[in-house]
Amino acid sequence: MSNATLELPFNNMPLALEGSYLSALFRPTSILLSVITLLTAFGLRYLLPGKNIGGFGEVIGKTGDRDFHDALYKGYFKHPNTLFTIPTAHHPMTLVPTQFLDEIKALPESILSFQKQVTARFLGKYTGLGVNDTLVHSVKVDLTKNIPKIMGELQDEVGYAIGKHVGECEDWTPYPLYFMLTHLVALLSGRIFVGHPLSRNEEWLHATVRYTIDGFTGAEKLWNYPRILHPIMQYLIPEVRQVHSYLSNGGKMLAPLIKARQNTNLSEKEKPMDMVQWIIDNCDPKDKENVSYVTQTQMLISVVAIHTTTMTMAQVIFDLLAHPEYIDILREEIQRVKPTEEEAWTKAKIAGLRKMDSFMKESQRFRPPGLVTMNRQVEQDLKLSNGLTLPKGAHIGVAAGSNALDPELFPNPMEFDGLRFLKLRERPGNENKYNFVTTGPDQLHWGVGTHACPGRFFASYEIKMLLAKLLTDYDIKLEGGASERPADIALDIRVIPNPMAKVMFKKRSV
Ligand code: HEM
Repeated sequence: MSNATLELPFNNMPLALEGSYLSALFRPTSILLSVITLLTAFGLRYLLPGKNIGGFGEVIGKTGDRDFHDALYKGYFKHPNTLFTIPTAHHPMTLVPTQFLDEIKALPESILSFQKQVTARFLGKYTGLGVNDTLVHSVKVDLTKNIPKIMGELQDEVGYAIGKHVGECEDWTPYPLYFMLTHLVALLSGRIFVGHPLSRNEEWLHATVRYTIDGFTGAEKLWNYPRILHPIMQYLIPEVRQVHSYLSNGGKMLAPLIKARQNTNLSEKEKPMDMVQWIIDNCDPKDKENVSYVTQTQMLISVVAIHTTTMTMAQVIFDLLAHPEYIDILREEIQRVKPTEEEAWTKAKIAGLRKMDSFMKESQRFRPPGLVTMNRQVEQDLKLSNGLTLPKGAHIGVAAGSNALDPELFPNPMEFDGLRFLKLRERPGNENKYNFVTTGPDQLHWGVGTHACPGRFFASYEIKMLLAKLLTDYDIKLEGGASERPADIALDIRVIPNPMAKVMFKKRSV
């Protein structure tokens, strides 16, 4: 792999340490940071508390817990018809049973807000993290509609990305899987988000990958301080400062592209087929030349797209290695379906990867990136059909991870069956149900309804095209010949594939 500096994706501790800790300790910002941290620890937090609307139903788990996996599982089966709450950091989160799904799934932002929830949870005012309407529309409508037209570019990028980050591998070569896949996914996404050559610019790639990591870490660190101090702390916490620098440097890189797109005389056919164009087309007229707005939206799309797809794909590969009997099953299907040297992948050919689709969905059933989806902030008191009112300010969600392990929905839920969803699709009437991208009351990992992930189609194509090439060109095994998949990191309501686990690759002689 070309990139020599490896970084843990979620705790932000670089493996290659730069500079001296001692000199860092005595920088003026570090001293100020230490003083504020001490004051906060010794009571300021309690003198200046933040707003925190309480949860509903039984509270399961303890405030301060770092992992709510067991609490969610217990709560889901103990309270199939009533609400329960887990005291996650910063906001108690109330879990709503799926019987209320139809009542909540299509409510407008003015009643149940997805965007405000993201901004509140990740302190978007300081980290920039959030979602905006332009971004959602550009993904939901333009990206999804144009997938058939961009497949040639994706295919080209698959070849480039794998050539660069996996390479020849004449002998078994170990790669930390998560980091390797992050590079692949960032290149593929970038090709469609900003187009070539910017998509292969190292500084741009670094910013789009790191924005998520530093944004989330920065928000975590900000939460250690009372809200009243956040306006100051944003300048003292390195990760938050870093986020601002990604935005300003990213703006410099994007500015020429944005300027070049101001020619409004182009017909629809002549317009470049990328996210920069879609953002400019879809945003408010006043923002069309606004470099900060377009850059911010670009960074946000990287946030929602890159690590989510990487985590999902890493889990698929770990599951393949834990169940290696599926490798040849998938290879046989790829051989049968894939385009010849002269052809390109098409939508129809990708649809032929039915076993791969099923395997991906089974992997996601066990290990989605998040155990709670449909996270919302209640914007107006909301009366449910059981008479209970969720008050304005409450945070709610559905326990997607536990739902996926419910034996009433999935027989033998703890058994990994890579063809489970293919078998379900083969039942009459089910042909279009249980695809990787399908959503429903028993398929909650993408959310359901108005805000169901609009990028899931694109993510599915990216993963399938990458996986088809990797399995065709390489043999894979876990480092040291291990047969157990590396343990996930369970954090809060997240499931993180082990970022340090290495997978060995060797070129196949076909
Ligand atoms: C395997 C990868 C992915 C997973 C697991 C995932 C999962 C999710 C989930 C759970 C939601 C929230 C749904 C809800 O609360 O109802 C969501 C929202 C969203 N996702 Fe994805 N996502 C993935 C990839 C992507 C990609 C590649 C893109 C963009 C190209 C994307 C764009 C979005 C956007 C824009 C939203 C907000 C939708 C809205 O506000 O209406 N996602 N995603």
